Amino acid sequence: MSDNTETLANLGTEERRFAPSADFAANANLTAEAYEEAAADRLAFWEKQADRLSWETRWTQALDWSNPPFAKWFVGGKLNAAYNCVDRHVEDGAGDKVAFHWVGEPEDDTRDITYAQLKDEVCQAANALAELGVGTGDRVAIYLPMIPEAVVAMLACARLGAPHTVVFGGFSAEALSSRVLDCGAKVIITADGGYRRGAASALKPAVDEAVTKVEAEQPGLVEKVLVVRRTGQDVAWDESRDVWWHESVGNASTEHACEFFDAEHPLYVMYTSGTTGKPKGILHTTGGYLTGAAYTHWGIFDLKPNSDVYWCTADIGWVTGHSYMVYGPLANQATSVMYEGTPDSPHKGRWWEIVQKYGVTIFYTAPTAIRTFMKWGDEIPNKFDMSSLRLLGSVGEPINPEAYVWYRETIGGGRTPVVDTWWQTETGAIMISPLPGVTHAKPGSAMKAIPGIVADVVNDEGQSVPDGSGGYLVIREPWPSMLRTLWGDDERFKETYWSRWEGMYFAGDGAKKDVDGDVWVLGRVDDVMNVSGHRLSTTEIESALVSHPKVAEAAVVGATDEMTGQAVCAFVILRESAGDGGADIVQELRDHVAKEIGAIAKPRQIMIVPELPKTRSGKIMRRLLRDVAENREVGDVTTLADSTVMDLIKEGAATST
Ligand code: WTA
Repeated sequence: MSDNTETLANLGTEERRFAPSADFAANANLTAEAYEEAAADRLAFWEKQADRLSWETRWTQALDWSNPPFAKWFVGGKLNAAYNCVDRHVEDGAGDKVAFHWVGEPEDDTRDITYAQLKDEVCQAANALAELGVGTGDRVAIYLPMIPEAVVAMLACARLGAPHTVVFGGFSAEALSSRVLDCGAKVIITADGGYRRGAASALKPAVDEAVTKVEAEQPGLVEKVLVVRRTGQDVAWDESRDVWWHESVGNASTEHACEFFDAEHPLYVMYTSGTTGKPKGILHTTGGYLTGAAYTHWGIFDLKPNSDVYWCTADIGWVTGHSYMVYGPLANQATSVMYEGTPDSPHKGRWWEIVQKYGVTIFYTAPTAIRTFMKWGDEIPNKFDMSSLRLLGSVGEPINPEAYVWYRETIGGGRTPVVDTWWQTETGAIMISPLPGVTHAKPGSAMKAIPGIVADVVNDEGQSVPDGSGGYLVIREPWPSMLRTLWGDDERFKETYWSRWEGMYFAGDGAKKDVDGDVWVLGRVDDVMNVSGHRLSTTEIESALVSHPKVAEAAVVGATDEMTGQAVCAFVILRESAGDGGADIVQELRDHVAKEIGAIAKPRQIMIVPELPKTRSGKIMRRLLRDVAENREVGDVTTLADSTVMDLIKEGAATST
């Protein structure tokens, strides 16, 4: 916890409080009674939330926790996630309601998709996938830009009971192939390309490369590649494997009778960085996950489905895109905005222009975006009428109080509650957050566990720390949207999350309880970095660097960065045979990391050094490297095997950046 002491010392000086307006409080979906209700009977509270969904067969037991940490929620219940997200709304007469205002990157490229249209397309895609051989339990990888087909593909898989694994379109062929192999996906759904800042960029070649890699390891695994034509660019084509979406889905029937699956049927696998090099496949199942997503989306965002226009800016390739762009909003019959492009193209006011155009009322984004807008200046958002906004949300990393206040004032016009929501890929849904109609929120604090969730901050011994002190964030009781295991690796699931303290889920974050008992999340205490709200593993980037022929050894740290929260800084020892590596060595290594993992993992800084600081047992002391990366006085070096190493590194760092 030593890395957090500085941050800890700075907390507690924050005196600002923001209470909801009387009007907001009077009309809020979630009221303070929910805390009492959940505390009195937690399982009954969750059963009530599960009733937001349509069940074909009702469950007989809320929770089976007889074999911890393997939970079963809503035992015996049967449902279909896609039916809950589309069909039932159409059956309820809401077919003409807009599910998505889709906004393409090219400015004139927009499409409103109603629930009835979405249902037709999901049924078509389900029929087409079944035709391609996808059955219940088969895995499908989805590697698409932010286009409507991405949502359709996810729901079509859910409809068939075929777990999907969505891989962020910015990830490399290497990352895609390792995920396809790990979960054994037999079909990949992709596009010819996507649009980024006004230009078409290819996607299909990465899939072709990934399939070649997969073929080398497991021949015949990938049977079909279903390709959406988005940009119209030329693509290489394998007649026996590749299928156009518009031909296969486009010609399929819009009728599809769905099957209902067990509440614990796998819904999806989402890969996320862990402390080792190999990404973890987080498994979410159907009934509990959908319950958690629907409840929190309704309660924390105060969704009024008939008047709100909701916009979550996350990419579909992350868990936030799953829970708060697809499953939560659609289960709740929301009208959402979905945007394909970046915030700065063709101009830096694009997001606010979209808010104005569609009258967005609820807006959910990440602190890194907020800080970027802050830097660009108030004049940009001030040009647009954003008076429709009534609630703002933040997720992905700690939000610094200044950014919180700016967000509330400049984007929210000083009226909107801001919900700082803490959760993880593993938790499936929001866990700690203000209740927008109840909480007197403190900028920078996620405040309290939401009704139904039991969180705590504990010390090394696993004991609850008193108010005013720091420790590790844990969850004390199982919850419906919790991960069920890591795909194919029950042992690693137990070891990673449940082994530190008996009966507690360890989230990997450090946190502090302030004098009022409110929670301030301080960030990861393990070797996971959080760059612009994206989780990256130090080990994964180190392995990528070491796979370069000129590199002998590498150590990666996350250094504090004003814009991105943390930034990747790498210290690299070159092989003797590489000499000084050549004039372009830094660029060469950055590109290599992008190729191995994806552009988001590119180090901000690479320092070529002669040595790395190691303890006598050979463990790299990242704390000292972080001191160098953050330009600080280097801390205690007494446990180093060779204490002069740091001088060499500092010299090296000074000359190579
Ligand atoms: C961090 C994203 C502080 C945290 C939903 C967590 C946060 C990791 C917050 C999960 C927040 C997320 N305040 N830190 N409001 N939200 N985090 O799996 O370190 O991509 O463990 O899920 O992001 O990242 P993940």
